[in-house]
Amino acid sequence: MSKPFAVAILGAGLGSRFKSKQAKLLHEAGGRKLIEHAVGTAAKLSSSKIFVIVGYQANEIQRAITEADGKPGGGKVYFLLQDKQLGTGHALKCGRKELMVAAPLLLVYCGDTPLLRPETLRKFITYHRKSKATATVMTTIMADPSGYGRMVRSADGQVSAIVEHKSASAEIRTIREVNTGIYCFDTKELFSQLDRLKPDRLTGEYYLTDVISGLRQEGKHVKGYPIDDEREVMGVNTRIELAQADALLQARKAIEIMLGGVTIMQPESVRIDPDVEIGSDTILEPGAMLLGSTRVGRNCRIGAYSRITNSRIEDGVTILQCSVVADSIIKREASVGPFAHIRTGTEVGPQAKIGNFVEVKKSKIGPGTKAGHLTYLGDAIIGDYVNVGAGTITCNYDGENKHTTIIENNVFIGSGTELVAPTLIGRNAYVGAGSTITKNVPADALALARTHQVLKLGWVKQRKQKPKAKAKK
Ligand code: UD1
Ligand code: MG
Repeated sequence: MSKPFAVAILGAGLGSRFKSKQAKLLHEAGGRKLIEHAVGTAAKLSSSKIFVIVGYQANEIQRAITEADGKPGGGKVYFLLQDKQLGTGHALKCGRKELMVAAPLLLVYCGDTPLLRPETLRKFITYHRKSKATATVMTTIMADPSGYGRMVRSADGQVSAIVEHKSASAEIRTIREVNTGIYCFDTKELFSQLDRLKPDRLTGEYYLTDVISGLRQEGKHVKGYPIDDEREVMGVNTRIELAQADALLQARKAIEIMLGGVTIMQPESVRIDPDVEIGSDTILEPGAMLLGSTRVGRNCRIGAYSRITNSRIEDGVTILQCSVVADSIIKREASVGPFAHIRTGTEVGPQAKIGNFVEVKKSKIGPGTKAGHLTYLGDAIIGDYVNVGAGTITCNYDGENKHTTIIENNVFIGSGTELVAPTLIGRNAYVGAGSTITKNVPADALALARTHQVLKLGWVKQRKQKPKAKAKK
């Protein structure tokens, strides 16, 4: 049987290069916080336990992890505190008591490596176990290695040390093989080295990377495990790298979605959050944003620069450009937009049409109903095949409370109508254009609630003939 392993994620640092009050790992790339990526990856492995070392904004980091998953890592996640951020080596030392007894092998990685895939870690652990090394360091060749620790190898190719960029000589800085910050250790040997770690002369920090030269000096077996794709192990240390990681994660999701049978126009311009699902033959126009837990069905078209959050879009729906949909359901073959705003708690029925500059909030729109232009529908229950004329407004708020508007099947609401809630318009009724409805309208009735038109014939001519009043001095 292979030796069990535990995971330790380093997540206590502030991330000073971010120039943010918020811990670096709380910033988002690819629709998730960096720490969520790190823990999510660990959760997909068969480790005995997952330890997250927290320090700066420890509570916020813990909350981010538990909010993303009520039982993170299936209940395997534990938090260890690094009170003062004295370096990556010190971070592990702070968890000595728990980590020493957790498992004979320890997989350690930095929390700022969001592209790291579980399958890469699985291969890495298998390699470490097979090689029987005391420590294995995942490495990669970088086109531009600046900022990273450099892998120093002896003439026979053995890893002899990791030298941090800051401390590296000009010669060492030419080495392009870098430390990815991902390691597999024999737990006991790791701690015997950590106990002896000395602070770095330049920064005063205890570097985890110094463990490697310590092990080598004792004649222990240290392996380097190079991987091909440098992008997968990029560390996010600045906002520029955050943007690069975000673009790579977005591209990864877009590829997965396209392979599932979805057409994406200009894939680099769209945002699709990790949990979003999209059915085949749906088309996403440039700049579409599908966020949170959104589900889109088959044969839909999502218009350019539309933003859909935590919503269900059924088969055959058209969302025209620049529409915003949040926490709502759009049923099959309905059409929304352009420039529509569908707010929380709305259900748009099958084949309904919500047109341009229409805002709908917490309302149910029946099948085949149309609200084509410049309308506000809030707290409304609207039946089947209703025609809501241009400029209709449900006056749902009296300054203190919200009230409901009910419009039954087949009603015709003329343009420019105000429906002062609470109110009910009975089935088949007509409301004349420009009405302000303050009382219920019975079924099959016509309601007109506007002043009579006054006509003054010849008024313009008369006005022109009137002598102008003298200007005051
Ligand atoms: C680190 C490595 C470097 C490697 C690079 C890969 C060290 C000394 N350097 O550098 O060799 O090439 O990662 O991306 O390890 N952290 C703590 N406590 C601390 C300091 C940091 O938990 O006291 C955590 C941070 O939250 C972060 C991780 O450790 O998630 C790495 O810290 P960071 O400052 O990003 O290290 P790098 O300079 O990138
Ligand atoms: Mg880093």
